[in-house]
Amino acid sequence: MSRRISGFKPTGPLQLGNYVGAIRPVVRGQHEQPTVAFIADLHALTVQHDPALVQALSREVAGLLLATGIDPGHALLYRQSDVAAHLELHYLLECVTSYGEAHRMIQFKEKGGGGGSRLSLLTYPVLMAADILLHDIEEVPVGNDQRQHVELTRDLAERFNERYGPTFTVPRAVHPAVAARIADLAEPGRKMGKTNASTAGVLFLLDPPDVLRRKVMRAVTDTGTEVVYEPQQRPGVANLLDILGALTDRDPRAVAGDFQGMGYGRLKTAVADAVIATLEPIQGRYRALTDEDIETVLADGAERAAEHADRTVRRARIALGLTGGRRAPAGSPATPVTAGRPR
Ligand code: AMP
Ligand code: TRP
Repeated sequence: MSRRISGFKPTGPLQLGNYVGAIRPVVRGQHEQPTVAFIADLHALTVQHDPALVQALSREVAGLLLATGIDPGHALLYRQSDVAAHLELHYLLECVTSYGEAHRMIQFKEKGGGGGSRLSLLTYPVLMAADILLHDIEEVPVGNDQRQHVELTRDLAERFNERYGPTFTVPRAVHPAVAARIADLAEPGRKMGKTNASTAGVLFLLDPPDVLRRKVMRAVTDTGTEVVYEPQQRPGVANLLDILGALTDRDPRAVAGDFQGMGYGRLKTAVADAVIATLEPIQGRYRALTDEDIETVLADGAERAAEHADRTVRRARIALGLTGGRRAPAGSPATPVTAGRPR
């Protein structure tokens, strides 16, 4: 039983790719494997951000994680900024990270990493390492773009353990068995993403059903009329088959077989039906959640997360030659708990 962690950055409204690629695997695995799911709000500060939006999206992401089936009785769900140990371990790990190592990270370069970038964009992989190491995680399910960051996490954990004595569990990256990668409906050559410039081809989890249907019916397909699964030659149709396959747990090639002799219109109708059938109940559960419900879960999650995380930081502090740190008086919560309105 390996401990797993998933982080969700509140940088945009969640879309179907997030659901299929990241949320659903966590929901399905939470009963078999100890699971940590957190809102990575500190990570949203590494690029230009709007404070009110980060706050609203953090609440939305938390609510959607609950509505899609994250069970706080099994998984640990909390907001990163509520657990100060993330920040403390971030700094301690910076002391075992070299500048060159951070500078080599591909995402730093891709996101514009130049003289004008925030320093936190350079050090963000170290914060991610802290997120993972705090919880003694063994497996980090991530897409290819995050692989390098998990490798850095391993390097830092091993280096720390070697220099200062056994302190951290060394994690490894794992990749989803079925690598469902959903493409933008309007531009099948690119990934469906929550920050894509145009939203015409992005199915947001909270889009009303008529909007979802319209976006699917307007999806760019390819020339030809036969429904066949050929991702290279016919990426638009293949993407529709991937979506339908993912939502019905079937192989997209088998799904294509159902549409023999039928046109693209029938396929689109079936995709729209499946998307709406999946998202409508999630939207219903989301709407039924109050701010208070969400804050209660997050506050409880933060308290439980801090218990584990504070123990890890204490180990790291002592290994580094610092004191064990201040201990909260017995019985007092590890983090301030403010139930009610979003903070
Ligand atoms: P992001 O929204 O890019 O920060 O990604 C958050 C998580 O959702 C990551 O685990 C991604 O791999 C996953 N994800 C995002 N977009 C897609 C997509 N279009 N298809 C599959 N997985 C995705
Ligand atoms: N960096 C991840 C992303 O951009 C989000 C993230 C932050 C994360 N900390 C994490 C993912 C820890 C897994 C584990 O998607």
